[in-house]
Amino acid sequence: MFSCGSNSVYESEHMRNVTGDTIRPGGFDLTDRAVHICNFKNNHRVLDVGCGMGTTVAYLKMRYNLDSVGIDPSKKLLKEGKVKNPNLNLYEGWGEKLPFKNCEMEGVFCECTLSLMEDKDMVMKEIYRVLKDKGYLAISDVYAREPRYINELNELNLKSCLRGIHHVEVLKEKLIERGFEIRSFEDHTNYLKELMVNIIFQYGSMNVFWNKTGNCNIDSNELKRILSKSKVGYFLLIAQKT
Ligand SMILES: C[S@@+](CC[C@H](N)C(=O)[O-])C[C@H]1O[C@@H](n2cnc3c(N)ncnc32)[C@H](O)[C@@H]1O
Repeated sequence: MFSCGSNSVYESEHMRNVTGDTIRPGGFDLTDRAVHICNFKNNHRVLDVGCGMGTTVAYLKMRYNLDSVGIDPSKKLLKEGKVKNPNLNLYEGWGEKLPFKNCEMEGVFCECTLSLMEDKDMVMKEIYRVLKDKGYLAISDVYAREPRYINELNELNLKSCLRGIHHVEVLKEKLIERGFEIRSFEDHTNYLKELMVNIIFQYGSMNVFWNKTGNCNIDSNELKRILSKSKVGYFLLIAQKT
């Protein structure tokens, strides 16, 4: 038997064993892609919502010379980030209540975080508020390529971003209702597959990993069945405030 691990998968050492300090599929590849599409320039002010250890905040500053800040509710991850990079602008807080002024940001990143947030409508409202006109929102996250089975996944009550897996058409509609225009949508499921291969390579099976990361009460066969039916994928979406 495996013991039930940390309360949130993303805070657990097991997740970091497979992702490194970028706690998401794809590392910086999709960050680079977003910077390229949004054409962020020197000193543009950008916010990373759900920044974890601030790894992207540091990267955007060093690689692109952006004026980057991050916010996350996890004291543990923020502390680790501050130890590595004491000069980073990292704040404790929630996407649902951003401690920034109206129209302050050229861009907002949500890298594998929106799916974890309880009140996505409020988060989108807040992001819209802090963005300048024509500012960009870059979301990379998990989605059900076959969305008919999303409710079954939700019922499993997983402790991971799969709990809030996106129905992309619904997400796009909500963004448009909020006042965004969708500039691009790209499928990057290959990065999720790479992550799963890594997990199996290091832990022997997805079941072992799920158990270690606190999803002990899940019937792993049931999980496997629903995951494969719903064709879990990964995407990068860029929206622009109009
Ligand atoms: C999968 S991790 C990704 C962290 C970081 N973006 C990265 O890629 O390394 C998800 C992050 O979302 C944060 N999070 C969860 N709920 C949140 C909320 N309501 N507002 C802001 N961040 C949240 C978690 O604390 C965690 O750091």
